[in-house]
Amino acid sequence: MTTESKWTAGKIRALKGRGKFACLTAYDYTTARLLDEAGLPLVLVGDSLATPMLGYADTLPVTMAEMLHHAAAVARGVKSALVVADMPFMSYQVSISQAIENAGRFIKEAKADAVKIEGGAFRTPTVKALIENGIPVLGHIGLTPQSIHAMGGYKVQGKKPAEAQNLLQDASALTEAGVFAVVLECMPPALGREITRAIPVPTIGIGAGPDCDGQILVTTDLLGLFSEFTPKFVKRYASLGTEMNKAFAAYKADVAKGTFPGPEHCY
Ligand code: KIV
Repeated sequence: MTTESKWTAGKIRALKGRGKFACLTAYDYTTARLLDEAGLPLVLVGDSLATPMLGYADTLPVTMAEMLHHAAAVARGVKSALVVADMPFMSYQVSISQAIENAGRFIKEAKADAVKIEGGAFRTPTVKALIENGIPVLGHIGLTPQSIHAMGGYKVQGKKPAEAQNLLQDASALTEAGVFAVVLECMPPALGREITRAIPVPTIGIGAGPDCDGQILVTTDLLGLFSEFTPKFVKRYASLGTEMNKAFAAYKADVAKGTFPGPEHCY
């Protein structure tokens, strides 16, 4: 792979106004390889791995150690896409020096290319400090799952005009602070469109309507691999959970019947 074919934060920023692009999450080496082969420009190691990979009820318990482990596996699988590591709850909120130290670990130890942090205008001192220290930042506003207790649940954000105005200001403030793109999660499509028109960096929507510059989904949702709860904004492109159930049952039955292993599987 040449360095020219590697996606950088600058190249993602330059996608603004050049057509729509798709991004997905990855938590492991094999999925990361497949997403990279599909030509996606950005792969996010989301803290959304909390539930499908680790069995937590929400993203709050995920640790730096867990995120580093998964981010490193993803980075090993990706040649071309930009690998963005999600900074877990309380790994950047305590102080700017804590944020720099932990973001630096994603770059140094996991070989990620950039980090994502949640929060709007109030987060700009942290965003600036990370960027000044050479770490590209992806912003994330709207429904920010790490603030789930303050938000009172997984609710659509920006429905009231004053909230929408705040989100618009948050997006502008993050852009001025230097983020290369902003994730917009769970907001009315009209607000997704307004923010997309207002800022000069790409918006990457998840439940923010069709007018964002990019879209992102949680890969296990898209694949139908983890279906305890499927948000309205998810489109399912496969039913891998059902396929896996079938495969496990068929294997179990073959072993019980003695039809596996067959002669072709024996030395
Ligand atoms: O953790 C995650 O996967 C995310 C996406 C939903 C944007 O933050």
